[in-house]
Formats: sequence, structure tokens, C-alpha cells
Amino acid sequence: MAVDNFYYKEEKRKMTERLATTVAGLKLANPTMLASGILGYTGLSLKTVIDAGAGAVVTKSMGLEPRTGYPNPTVVQTDCGLLNAMGLPNPGISHFKEEMKQLKRTGVPIILSIYGYSLEEFVKVAEAAAEMGADAIELNVSCPHIERAGAEIGCDSTLLTEIVKQVKKAINVPVIVKLTPNVTNIAEIAKAAEKAGADAITAINTIKAMSIETETARPLLANKFGGLSGPAIKPIAVRCIYDVYKSIDVPIIGCGGVANWRDAIELMLAGASAVQIGTAIAFKGPEVFSSVTAGIDAYLNRKGFKNLKELVGLAHNH
Ligand code: SIN
Repeated sequence: MAVDNFYYKEEKRKMTERLATTVAGLKLANPTMLASGILGYTGLSLKTVIDAGAGAVVTKSMGLEPRTGYPNPTVVQTDCGLLNAMGLPNPGISHFKEEMKQLKRTGVPIILSIYGYSLEEFVKVAEAAAEMGADAIELNVSCPHIERAGAEIGCDSTLLTEIVKQVKKAINVPVIVKLTPNVTNIAEIAKAAEKAGADAITAINTIKAMSIETETARPLLANKFGGLSGPAIKPIAVRCIYDVYKSIDVPIIGCGGVANWRDAIELMLAGASAVQIGTAIAFKGPEVFSSVTAGIDAYLNRKGFKNLKELVGLAHNH
């Protein structure tokens, strides 16, 4: 019995060591994170994801003022993923203060995703987020269908540089920049963000896309076009991470189509130090975090890796 107990404890210790990772100064017990946009509006829903085993969570993007978002339909299921154009609905950053209080008790890093329509707005929202205890900020400069915000900023390296610099100057918590794949050269944009002070890069946000109903000839989303996520975009995420990894030194958080441990490993081999999961929750439930984590651990153990670092970017050796 005592020997069994020792063996169990030893295995548990090795597993804990294998899975732990640090991204932008944040200590994660495992490399899975909740992607912004799903279950990220309330403390309660974020707590559900934390209880399900996520190593960190990212909120729905918050702005300075409350926003109702676009009319329905805002989400459409395609045969290869989800298409959404919610229009950044959110209660406004100040309304997240209460939610934050409950979340801080969990000890799991809480990353506040923020957006703004101007440099000044980004700075104000970032300051509010830092003040309420965010462990890091993720700048959403990559929403593919919001005018004067989102990807309009993430496609313009001069504007992006200025926003990252000013946000960094204003707050004392790590700044993560979430990039759009809807650009010619994502590595150059990542390099600009790093040079401006970004502590990590999230790659990628959704891909601008559209669906049309054939009987009525109507675009299915009320906003006509939106962002595609899920299995269809995983190979695009892998390529973007691979390109970005070659051009920057700060860590990459991979995002795009992760639904199982093999997807997560693929993003890490391309260069991601952690992976975000979003769309898969809609199909598999929050349990996806523990199943992906268990699969990653089994893979590391089977391959003889002592930790995740040994795996990150390994595909670049070929
Ligand atoms: C939305 O709220 O419409 C999606 C946000 C995003 O893609 O960044």
C-alpha cells in the first residue's frame, strides 16, 4: 500500500512538472487556456471552465462602454466549423469588476481581452482591467468584422505599434497581442508587436468568412460576414504559428481548431507554448480541457519528454 502510494505521488509529481508552463510571466499548471469569446462573459461561466481544468482563461473582449452587438443570427454552424459575428457584445469593462473578485480566488491566471476604437480607449480599458486585478491583458486587434477596431488595427503595423507601446507604458501587467490571419505577412505584424513591447502573441483569431442560404439567397449571418473558427482553420493556425515562431522570441499562444490533444501538440510543434480552446467547447463541453491535458501528458510521457519546452517548435528542426 505504502509503495503504491509512493508510486502514485511520484507519477503525479512528474505529471505536474511535465505539464507546467510559463507564458508572458504567467504560471500555468497546464498549457490549455480558454479562448476569448466562449463562456467568457461572467465569473460563473469562467469558473466552470477553471473547474474543468483550464490552465488559464481569457474573457470575452471588453470595451469602455457596454455594447449590445449585432442582431441575430450571430452564429451559424457550417460543415467545417462555426461562423460568428456577434459584434463584440459586452457589459463594458467596469461591470466586470465584481466578476473579477470571485475569479481571483481561484489562483488560475485571468486574462482580460480588451478592444478599443482609439489609442486613448485602449489605454483606458487596459488601465481599468489592470486595476481590477487582471493577470494579463489580451489586445483584440483581430476581430474580422468590426469597423475602426479589431483587424483594422491588427493589419496596420504602425497603428498596432503605437497601441502596444502606449498600453505597455500605462500598465504593469503582461500584454498579449492576438493577431489576425487575414494579412499577407503575419510574421511581420508579430515582429512589430514584439518590438513595441508585447509579452506574448496569440495566433490566430478567426478567418473572415461568409455563408449564404441557397433557397432564399440570403447571407446567413445578420452581419453578412463573420469569423470562421473550428477544424477548418487549424492548418491555417499551424502555418501562422510556424511563421511567427521564426520571427520572434516572445512566447506564442496557439489558437485555432484545437479539439483534441493531437491538435494541441501540432500547434506546439509549430511553436506554441500554450493553446487556447474555444469552438470545441460548443461540441464537447468544458470537459475538453481535461481530455486535451491528459492526452498531452500521455504523449510527453510516451515520447520521453521531461517538459513541454522540449516540444515547442520541434517541427522547425526538419
Ligand atoms: C465577436 O464578438 O463578434 C467576435 C470577436 C472576435 O472575433 O474577436
